[in-house]
Formats: sequence, C-alpha cells, structure tokens
Amino acid sequence: MQNGLTLSLTVLVLLGLCSNKPAIAQGEHARRAAAEIRVMVGDLKRLDSPELSTQHKTGLQERILGSISALDILFRLADEETAEPDTSPSAPGLPKISKLSIKKLRQAFIDDELKANNSILRQWLKLYPLALSRLEATQDTDMTIGKNLHKELCAPCHDNPARNTARPAYNLFDEANNLAVEEFIARLLTGVRGDRVTGIDNPLSDQQIQSLAAYYAFGKQP
Ligand code: HEC
Repeated sequence: MQNGLTLSLTVLVLLGLCSNKPAIAQGEHARRAAAEIRVMVGDLKRLDSPELSTQHKTGLQERILGSISALDILFRLADEETAEPDTSPSAPGLPKISKLSIKKLRQAFIDDELKANNSILRQWLKLYPLALSRLEATQDTDMTIGKNLHKELCAPCHDNPARNTARPAYNLFDEANNLAVEEFIARLLTGVRGDRVTGIDNPLSDQQIQSLAAYYAFGKQP
C-alpha cells in the first residue's frame, strides 16, 4: 500500500506539473465508481489465469480488496454529486448500493466465492454503466497529446515493466490491444490514481485520456 501511495503521489505531482487542469465534470464520481467496478470484474478474471505467479496473485487480491473498500465512499460521492437539493428518500438520484451489499461482496471475495462476486459486480455494472462517449478513441483521434504524456510520465514505469513483483505496471500497448475497449479505458481512469487515499479526483482530462487510449491502441510502441 505504501508503494502504491508513493506511486500515486508521484504521478499526481508529475501531472500537476503538466499544468493541465483536471476535468472534474459532472458525473465524475459516478464514472469513477463505474470504472472501479469494471476493473474489478477484469481483475477477478485475471485472478483465474493459470499463468499468474503467487506473488502477483497476492498483489491482485490486495488491489481488489482495496477497491472494494473504496466503493462505499465512491458511491456516496457519486450520490452527493447528483443529489437534488431536496434530500428526502424519494428524491431522484443514483441507485443506492448499500453498505451491506458491499460488505457481502467483501466477504464473498475473502471466502473465495468468485462466481458470487462476479454476479454482484455485473449487477452493479448495469446500475453504473461506464459512459465511454468522450473517451473512446478511433483511428482519427489525435494521439500527439497521449504520445507526449506517455513519453514524459508513463514510459519509465510502463514500457518494460518488471514482471516479478506483486503489482506489475503492465505494458499499456499490450493492454490496449488485448483488453476490451471499455475495460482498458476503465483501467486508464483508475490506474493513474492507483490508490484510494489520493484517488478522489481524476488528474487527467477527458481529452488526455482519449488521446492516451488512441496512442496505446493505434500508435507505434517505442
Ligand atoms: C512510478 C511508476 C509509474 C508511473 C510513472 C506510471 N505508472 Fe501506471 N502503474 C504503475 C504500477 C506499478 C501499476 C500497477 C498498480 C497496481 O497493480 O496496483 C500501474 C497501473 C496502471 C494502470 C492499470 C493497469 C492495469 O492493468 O490495471 C494504468 C492504465 C496505468 N498505470 C497508466 C499509467 C499512465 C497513463 C501513466 C502516465 C500518465 C502512468 N500509469 C504512470 C506504475 C506507474
């Protein structure tokens, strides 16, 4: 956790130096919650992979538990951001996901009931779908911003990541080409922040994320 925190702080500081204003658009927290759920579904699938080392398995399990713990606050923030001035229980807002169901998810995960986990998460995915409209890249998306950002901030850790660690950085070009678009974008939305302590606001603008997604999917790996 300590490493994750240092890492997130480093990236946040570096991104701050880039002087690009973060886009905290309406719905940012709901989007973050949606991305977090999408990544958890992907991580559960990764846990099933026979190639996973014991070390990496432990790292992934830790990461999933961390994400489950972050859900309560994320759902609350998402709810607050859409809350009507009228806060009566009948006021329209986001679907409520109770503390109890988060607790159940956590317990199911600890008890290794991956199937139960997945079906809970898939239900939540329906409640919190990830809106890709401003983030999905096409062949025509300008990848210059993404390319420069990557070179400056991401390449040192991500281009030749060490594999023999509990939390490998992953090669982002490989990920963009091997994962479903939605999952990769969800990973971009959550990955840069990496840690729930610092992970409230998104340090990358939508344009930066879209351009990074274009670069990783269609650009040439250095
Ligand atoms: C100091 C090293 C470092 C830097 C700099 C860094 N990352 Fe990472 N990144 C990591 C590590 C380590 C992980 C894995 C964290 C984990 O498993 O919890 C990670 C995770 C991610 C993930 C999630 C991958 C997955 O499959 O879950 C994405 C996406 C990502 N980083 C994108 C970026 C981008 C984009 C930048 C540049 C803006 C960047 N990172 C900068 C080290 C770094």
